[in-house]
Amino acid sequence: NKQRNVRNFSIIAHIDHGKSTLADRILEKTKALTEREMKEQFLDAMDLERERGITIKLNAVQLQYEANDGEDYLFHLIDTPGHVDFTYEVSRSLAACEGALLVVDAAQGIEAQTLANVYLALDNDLEIIPVINKIDLPSADVERVKQEIEDVIGIPADDAILASAKSGIGIDEILERIVSDIPAPAGDPEEPTKALIFDSLYDSYRGVIAYTCIKEGSIKIGDKIKMMQTGKEFEVSELGVFTPEPVKKEELTVGDVGFLTASIKNVGDSRVGDTITLAKNPAAEPLPGYKRLNPMVYCGLFPVDADNYNDLREALERLELNDSSLQYEAETSQALGFGFRCGFLGLLHMEIIQERIEREFNIDLITTAPSVIYEVEMNDGEVLNIENPSLMPETKNIKEVREPFVKATVMVPNDFVGPVMEICQKKRGAFVDMEYLDENRVNITYDIPLSEIVYDFFDQLKSQTKGYASFDYELSGYQPSNLVKMDILLNGETVDALSFIVHRDFAYHRGKHIAEKLKKIIPRQQFEVPVQASIGNKVVARTTIKAMRKNVLSKCYGGDISRKRKLLEKQKEGKKRMKMVGKVEIPQEAFMSVLEMS
Ligand code: GTP
Repeated sequence: NKQRNVRNFSIIAHIDHGKSTLADRILEKTKALTEREMKEQFLDAMDLERERGITIKLNAVQLQYEANDGEDYLFHLIDTPGHVDFTYEVSRSLAACEGALLVVDAAQGIEAQTLANVYLALDNDLEIIPVINKIDLPSADVERVKQEIEDVIGIPADDAILASAKSGIGIDEILERIVSDIPAPAGDPEEPTKALIFDSLYDSYRGVIAYTCIKEGSIKIGDKIKMMQTGKEFEVSELGVFTPEPVKKEELTVGDVGFLTASIKNVGDSRVGDTITLAKNPAAEPLPGYKRLNPMVYCGLFPVDADNYNDLREALERLELNDSSLQYEAETSQALGFGFRCGFLGLLHMEIIQERIEREFNIDLITTAPSVIYEVEMNDGEVLNIENPSLMPETKNIKEVREPFVKATVMVPNDFVGPVMEICQKKRGAFVDMEYLDENRVNITYDIPLSEIVYDFFDQLKSQTKGYASFDYELSGYQPSNLVKMDILLNGETVDALSFIVHRDFAYHRGKHIAEKLKKIIPRQQFEVPVQASIGNKVVARTTIKAMRKNVLSKCYGGDISRKRKLLEKQKEGKKRMKMVGKVEIPQEAFMSVLEMS
């Protein structure tokens, strides 16, 4: 294949604007798939992704296209994940490309995520081809969206492609424009090898499968390769491309996008963003932009059944092989027993891992409320990083507590500016900027504590704006805050897994709210259970769960055995997610109750 006939590109879009549907059309048109192989949305490989309708892992497909100029072209379509938690992966997959199709919904217009991804594409110097999708919708407003693309993104939209991925309109034009607008990869096959790892996953037979794009030089089977960030060396055992089925190759050279295996035992040794070079003729410098990913939110994961502790450890070990941004360490809670403190890139990442543990490994979990990392400066000058609220030192020993802030960007129709600002204010946000995108849309920027984003920010935003707001954030740094630890006592005993950190101004209100909430969630026991919220030794809120009146079985009048059994079975089912803490039975929901504001 001639390098000048190679085109490497991505599709960037806000969630639901039609990225996967368009990818399917492109695959169809380039005959990459036979009818039988054509699954509905090929690029979203994992079950979980399909169910959630979001793309998590990246993929790359090689396509053959005969253009109108009569020449054969080789396309590599590189898929990108579409959620804020995975921004870094988006940015690495874009770094593997020379161009991007920017898909904008003709009815919705530009959304926060579209904008975030376009900036990433511009950072990577990509050629951007705007595609206005869903023009078949009656509510499509092509002129408005064109104007928006020009005003907000600042790229010409005159020649934007009008498309409907659903009805197959505009697909031929897209393929031709990929050929005419996107440059071929520029590298030199004779230079020392530089290959970007833009994704990697673990396969139990072959070890790590690294998805790579060759930027300079080439790699052959049997070559000794070196990972430039970690310094580790491996011998290449397999090379290939996805068409979309994997097809093995003897060599990958400049412009190729495919996979590599080399008996690598852990994805941590094949990090997204790292540069592969050859051990015997290494490149002088790695490709730019490598970043080590650090978790942003933490939570405790505990098996409902203590006997599953080792299974949980194994599940985490297995998941870690596939996900180098997952972190965990053993944790012991007085209330919940043995478990793990886990770190995640964001809330979605956290939910996905929890779900996979429950679904793929069949372990019922109790998860504690997510927490951010607090910086605690002690009176003696020592600085601690606290990601577990129950480990917060005593107030009298603390000089200052600092918490992470994010720059949050919310994009909404005019009518909702009021409600959005109200939510941001309530979440301790500091107003930064407000920018009108056109006569009816606004981009609002606030500086907000990350912990407040973790607490149901997105849900409130969605409900207060009827789902019209879109939202994006990036970490902006640490700022001092007047924070205190709040403990929850049940039956007079502190339940460590329920402790949380709260701003002093909100402490009273939140303590009261949580005590009320727990009263509703925790079932009545044989005895009365006082619920208290306290700061230090000072109780700020108190309620009581009344004692249970009747035995469940008394309703059955002793007679019908099968009915009795059913009732007991039902109770057992309900118990699955209950945890005995001291003498009190607590359901899973209780541990999440601190997340709800009001
Ligand atoms: P994520 O995978 O969540 O990022 O979404 P996506 O951007 O891949 O969107 P997807 O292709 O899953 O499309 C979202 C919805 O829009 C689906 O219900 C599609 O059927 C629909 N859709 C996609 N393209 C068109 C189109 O051209 N016209 C219409 N009317 N609907 C479309």
